[in-house]
Amino acid sequence: MGRSLKGSRVLVLGGTSGIGLATAQAAAAAGAMVTLASRSSDKVNAAVAKVGNGAVGASLDTTNDTALEAFFSKQPEWDHIVVSVAAGRSAGLHDLSLQDAYGNMNAKFWTAYKTAKLATITPDGSLTLVSGYLSHRPNKDALLQGCINAALESLGRGLALALSPVRVNTVSPGLIDTPIRAAMPADRKKAMLDHAAATLPARRVGQAEDVADAILMLMTNPFTTGSTLFVDGGGMIS
Ligand SMILES: NC(=O)c1ccc[n+]([C@@H]2O[C@H](COP(=O)([O-])OP(=O)(O)OC[C@H]3O[C@@H](n4cnc5c(N)ncnc54)[C@H](OP(=O)(O)O)[C@@H]3O)[C@@H](O)[C@H]2O)c1
Repeated sequence: MGRSLKGSRVLVLGGTSGIGLATAQAAAAAGAMVTLASRSSDKVNAAVAKVGNGAVGASLDTTNDTALEAFFSKQPEWDHIVVSVAAGRSAGLHDLSLQDAYGNMNAKFWTAYKTAKLATITPDGSLTLVSGYLSHRPNKDALLQGCINAALESLGRGLALALSPVRVNTVSPGLIDTPIRAAMPADRKKAMLDHAAATLPARRVGQAEDVADAILMLMTNPFTTGSTLFVDGGGMIS
């Protein structure tokens, strides 16, 4: 397998939208046999059609332990797994209910942890987690999101030891223009993206494909493990 994805079995959890979908498309274009999964069967069907190249889909809520366990128990070894499941609504300390806070941690952090525990990955394969630059640049209006991302980056480093020789890495995106902000008022979203494009060292807003490129590198570079790769247009240094 090595540096080529040709014929490899690739699973993308959260693969029906944004970064996960772009990763599924890139992996399939590189010759991988892709399985993508998320909760909505409509999104799964649309993503399978978009990815093409023999991709298959599964409707799966990764917060459902029984469903996740059943999914992995029916699957043979994977060559590469990418976890790109989003957490849910972000808000500040006093605006996020405890129920939503637990739900966010459950969707984003525990999905990654449970996947590492339940999935079988070939020894020369990889697991890639998706965190986010709030791990290092906390934002009071997305306090918990930063904590979840920091926990994921730590998890990625620990799993690189625990699952060795399987390689485990984390990609930490900056502001990426994906459907994750679909509920945001259009004018607020535009102002936010325009501000990012004007102030980031890269002078542009990130696209899902920028992160997918980085994920494919982490999947195929045989000497990269325990790394966190920031794909943030320089957000960390500005
Ligand atoms: N976009 C950014 O600016 C940005 C920045 C930093 C970090 N990130 C991180 O990057 C990751 C991907 O974000 P994105 O922008 O690509 O988001 P997105 O476009 O909203 O995609 C999120 C994906 O997660 C799936 N999902 C959500 N909850 C799920 C669950 N319980 N079980 C299974 N699938 C679930 C969604 O599909 P269903 O709704 O069908 O379940 C969807 O396929 C997230 O962890 C996000 O926090 C994004």
